[in-house]
Amino acid sequence: MIERVKSPRRLRGTVTPPGDKSISHRALLLNAVADGRAEIENLGTGADIGSTAACLHSLGVEIGEGVVHGVGLGGLRKPSGPLDCGNSGTTMRLLAGLLAGQPFESMLVGDESLARRPMDRVVEPLRKMGAHAELDPLRVGGRPLHGIEYSMPVVSAQVKSAILLAGLRATGTTRVVERVPTRDHTELMLEAMGAPLTVVDRTVSVETTDRLQPLDLRIPGDISGAAFWIVAGSFHPDASLEVLEVGVNPTRKAILELLPAKVMRLREVGREPVADLQVGTIPAAPAWDWDASWSAALIDELPVLAVAATQLRGTTRIAGAAELRVKESDRIAAMAKGLGAMGAQIREREDGWEITGPTVLTGARVSAFDDHRVAMALAVAGLLAGGTTEIEGAEHAAISYPNFWRDLESLC
Ligand code: S3P
Repeated sequence: MIERVKSPRRLRGTVTPPGDKSISHRALLLNAVADGRAEIENLGTGADIGSTAACLHSLGVEIGEGVVHGVGLGGLRKPSGPLDCGNSGTTMRLLAGLLAGQPFESMLVGDESLARRPMDRVVEPLRKMGAHAELDPLRVGGRPLHGIEYSMPVVSAQVKSAILLAGLRATGTTRVVERVPTRDHTELMLEAMGAPLTVVDRTVSVETTDRLQPLDLRIPGDISGAAFWIVAGSFHPDASLEVLEVGVNPTRKAILELLPAKVMRLREVGREPVADLQVGTIPAAPAWDWDASWSAALIDELPVLAVAATQLRGTTRIAGAAELRVKESDRIAAMAKGLGAMGAQIREREDGWEITGPTVLTGARVSAFDDHRVAMALAVAGLLAGGTTEIEGAEHAAISYPNFWRDLESLC
């Protein structure tokens, strides 16, 4: 599907991004193995969340409109066929952890993009825990696990979470040590569900347990979805936007340090902080003096931050972002191609981009490379560009943000 985007004279209105994708996956997965019924409000609507729900259904978990009927840590059923994780890396990696200690073997498959993504990063620690785990296709389960202490070689919340989920059923203590902190939604939710979990500095430990309490929760809006409106509103010449009910967990809100959205009505929902954001045109600003250590906390926002960098004065060198090469697409190449076609001065580097601005972007025909965040980032570029931008593969936005095009239209 092709979407055409033009820069409106004024960008005005209010949007509410969908429930946070990371928290939604965890709310389903953890409540699925809790002891009883949980109600979840504002669950993410993207196709990735649908993939997690469908896999859990195949494992014998009943999930209705916002209700999960937990079967307990030992209550999952051997699926009758492969579990289809679709486009979702989070589904595949977290499920691998949850299923590793089950008495049966599960096979996890996905679409073409997911089949290309690295899964050895979860297989390796799971094997250290005694798991039977094979690659291509990914198969886990059938052997008991024991706790390990694992220093993470990759910076990944998905891998950390997979090990912690496996640790719930492993004998003894499972410890994960992070070099660089990553999103902590798994830790917060496990604690809220009464799991024996402790966090000291960058080490998370979990003890074996036989029960999790079900957790009713309301999921905050996805700041990684809000990021598109934060960039569009900051750089459009006549913008005033409100983005409502956005999760501002400290491990996720680094974008608010780069772009000055006004944080209003800060409150806590469940254990997660939430706020409404007011975003408006910012004065001309200099290029960012990028520190490679920032990239981990901004990993999902980097495609749209590359768009932002085209509007800053001077050269921004985004580094430390090699992980983007193994996301739903090679996001470094995809954004260099798209923004390059729109006239940006952007050079691909192994672990990021060198972007010089400010550039008046011009509309062009660009490809989303079958990647939701690339589609939406290029749409934001289209909102700032002269002429018409045509985005091929626009439908991929529905992986994380099904109402994205409707929200975009409402702001124009
Ligand atoms: C996620 C972690 C990040 C992120 C992804 C969601 C999560 O992936 O990019 O969109 O929910 O844990 P990595 O763990 O691969 O960095």
